[in-house]
Formats: sequence, C-alpha cells, structure tokens
Amino acid sequence: DIKRFTAPDIRARKGGEPIVVLTSYHAHTASLADKYCEVILVGDSLGMVMHGMESTVPVTLDMMILQGRAVMRGSQRALVVVDMPFGSYEASKEQAFMSAVRILKETGCGAVKLEGGKRMAETIRFMTERGVPVMAHVGLTPQAINTLGSFKAQGRDEADWAPIEQDALAVAQAGAFSVVLEAMAEPLARKVTGAIPIPTIGIGASPACDGQVLVMEDMLGLSPRVPKFVKRYGDLAGGIEKAIADYAAEVRSRAFPAPEHTYAMKKK
Ligand code: KIV
Ligand code: NA
Repeated sequence: DIKRFTAPDIRARKGGEPIVVLTSYHAHTASLADKYCEVILVGDSLGMVMHGMESTVPVTLDMMILQGRAVMRGSQRALVVVDMPFGSYEASKEQAFMSAVRILKETGCGAVKLEGGKRMAETIRFMTERGVPVMAHVGLTPQAINTLGSFKAQGRDEADWAPIEQDALAVAQAGAFSVVLEAMAEPLARKVTGAIPIPTIGIGASPACDGQVLVMEDMLGLSPRVPKFVKRYGDLAGGIEKAIADYAAEVRSRAFPAPEHTYAMKKK
C-alpha cells in the first residue's frame, strides 16, 4: 500500500524542493501524472478542456465529483485536490463547507481548492477548522470572468500589488495549506512567495514559487489556444490527428482490420 501525500506534507514543503502539480480529469492520465507529481489538481478548467465551454462558470459540483472519482481511481500516491466550482462556495461559509463535504465524501480526495483572497478568508478558516484542507487561488481568478471582462495578467503596475499581497497573506493566515498564484507579474509572485508562510503554486507566475502547475492538455499540445505562460512539452494534437487520418485511410482501403485483428473459427 502506497501512502498518499497529504495536505500537511505539501504545507511542509515551503521553501524546499519545488512541488510538481498537474491537472488531470481522467483515470488514465491521472495514473501517468501520479508517477511524477506530488499533487494532481482536478481543475474546473475541465469545463473548457473537456466540454468546450467558454469559461469555467457553467461547471457544476456533480461534474467535479464525477471527474474527481475517476482521478482517485487512477492514482495512488499524489494528493488529489478538487476545484470547487463557481456558485458552490461563495454564498456563505456553511455553503462552502457543505459543498466541500460532498467533494471529500464522494471522491475520497484529500483537499479542495477555491478562488479568492481576503473575501474568502473567513470561509477558509471555517473549513480548515472543521477538517477540510483548502488550497486557495489568487491573482487571476477565472471564475470571475464576467466581472473582470477579460483574462489578463495581474500586478504589472506596482500600484496594483497591495491587494494581491493582502489576498495571499489573508488566505495563509486563515489556514490554507497552499495557494495558487495565477497570471501575475513575476516580481510580484516572487515577493508574495517570500512574504507568506505557505507554499505558492505558480501558473504564469515565477520560478521562485514553491511549486508550479499547468493544465495537462495545454502542456501536451492538445488545446487549440493556450495562454502565454504555457510551455508545450508535447504535440499530442498532431499525433492524434495523424493516427485518426491513418485509421480512416486504412478503413477506406480495407487494410484494416488485418487478419491478426480478426477471430478465426475454433480448430475442431
Ligand atoms: O482549473 C484549473 O485547472 C486551475 C489551474 C489552472 C490552477 O485552477
Ligand atoms: Na480552476
């Protein structure tokens, strides 16, 4: 039996060896990520990546739980963190706790993630005091797309730093075990990482962060459009398209199925 990383294990990595985080929404990709990553994030980016939604806003708790269960089945070593979707936690600390309870009970995952800094601090305290480890997420918060208007990097003007620094400090003081810093000026992410006692997980942030996260399909070259901060470590779209084109051609020419793909009669 392999022991899984826990939220306290990740919390203890502050200032140490970088924490490797990758998203996964499926059993098979989770089993691959599990070999190399301390944390697998079942991100609400699944709405865009798996379902072609325009944003993460329409994603439901049931969708997160279904994919969270798949990732738990596929992994055995990584801490699995499941995103709380828009509308499942903002109304009150009690709503947040009850939604997190569903996620923990129905998936078996070890922690949840929610977006927001100062405004979510009281909720984060309420949840962590009652047994729910919380990863926070500040900087660019994609669930707020309809009030933000567009996705753009935060804190590129030093005058805008203070609220983001206060957000990161507030979630740390409230008991979050780590915090995602998304799409912000590199010097700001570096400063925040040095200023707070919990690990920062960067995405479009800084190499100084305590860990990094990417969306798996983006880094594999499977997503059609990706933000500037994504490095493509593969070209899966090209590979998949070639395989499909080869298959279609072989069906049309009757080269597939070949004799080795068919069943002969039993020998009498
Ligand atoms: O939903 C997601 O994949 C995320 C990461 C990009 C941090 O929240
Ligand atoms: Na997310």
